[in-house]
Amino acid sequence: MTGVLDGLGAGLPVLAAPMAGGAGGPELVRAAAQAGGLGFLAAGYKTAEALAAQIREVRATTSRFGVNLFAPNPVPVDTDELAAYAAAIQGEGTPYGLDLTAVPVTEDDDDWDRKVELLTGDPVPLVSFTFGIPDSATVQRFRRAGSLTVQTVTDAAEARAATEAGVDALVVQAASAGGHSGTLTPDRLPADFALPELLASVRSASALPLLAAGGIATPDAVRDVFAAGAVAAVVGTVLLRSEESGASPPHRAALADPARRETVLTRAFTGRPARALRNRFVEEYDAIAPAGYPAVHHLTGPLRKAATAAGDPELVHLWAGTGFRQATREPAGDILRRLASGL
Ligand SMILES: Cc1cc2nc3c(=O)[nH]c(=O)nc-3n(C[C@H](O)[C@H](O)[C@H](O)COP(=O)(O)O)c2cc1C
Repeated sequence: MTGVLDGLGAGLPVLAAPMAGGAGGPELVRAAAQAGGLGFLAAGYKTAEALAAQIREVRATTSRFGVNLFAPNPVPVDTDELAAYAAAIQGEGTPYGLDLTAVPVTEDDDDWDRKVELLTGDPVPLVSFTFGIPDSATVQRFRRAGSLTVQTVTDAAEARAATEAGVDALVVQAASAGGHSGTLTPDRLPADFALPELLASVRSASALPLLAAGGIATPDAVRDVFAAGAVAAVVGTVLLRSEESGASPPHRAALADPARRETVLTRAFTGRPARALRNRFVEEYDAIAPAGYPAVHHLTGPLRKAATAAGDPELVHLWAGTGFRQATREPAGDILRRLASGL
């Protein structure tokens, strides 16, 4: 690896992306480090205490890892639109005994302040941010504590803002990426530029080191992003079926199901654009889903949890990037090493 990431000692420049919601836990982070690379522990949806426990678990086997935070950038929901959406999806909750119309409107900040306290008091090697850009004083707190700071951006304007905030490096995330887009304007879908093109556009806006993410699933794709100037590739979807992934059984099965032909960008599940395998929930509700994160996330959460437990993939957020066909069931380290083999 070149430049800014050298200090972390990661010789394998294909990194395991942060994946909140269970997929990217300590086992995957450990596997990425053992392969010679680095993984990001996902702090999203967790309390600061739960994050601290996972950091302890990772530190038992490696000191090379990152922690990814959802930085506050709420899109407050229109409560009438949310109520109408709850009424529209209620029919899906009834078989599970759920009253989705009674779910309280929740606009939380994912325990941001306490996570900042935790990570600046007991620093980790790398901290990355998505959804929002912390103010420069907060970025400096992390840097003074000794962490490398990395910001996810999805276009040149966001890259400029992140550079001004003082981070050390950028993750350039294309719309092909699985899971949530890190866009700063989640009330509209991110533009669909190919990753090498997006890297070139971001390069014109910032001199910071660039890590590339979104749809990377083959050694050729890794070579392409390096040729476009990236210093590392960050992959999520290709690891979702790995032995160390924490993805749920219906999610794993859907990724391997030949009947699943495509992914779509949708805010039906959480109110923020995210890429998922097309399923019935997306087909029926994408068009009427309001913008509004995290309120929509909290509204649909009980339904997604119940459907996951029941093994019904049609109501689950099946996060997946465009390279999902390449997701294989094997050790994560083998996948990461193979992806880097053409460099
Ligand atoms: C299941 C899943 C969960 C994700 N959770 C997060 C997250 O918590 N934080 C984050 O910055 N990105 C998250 N992402 C996006 C990844 O960091 C990364 O940008 C993406 O996986 C790259 O595209 P790919 O999936 O096509 O490899 C998630 C992606 C997936 C597939």
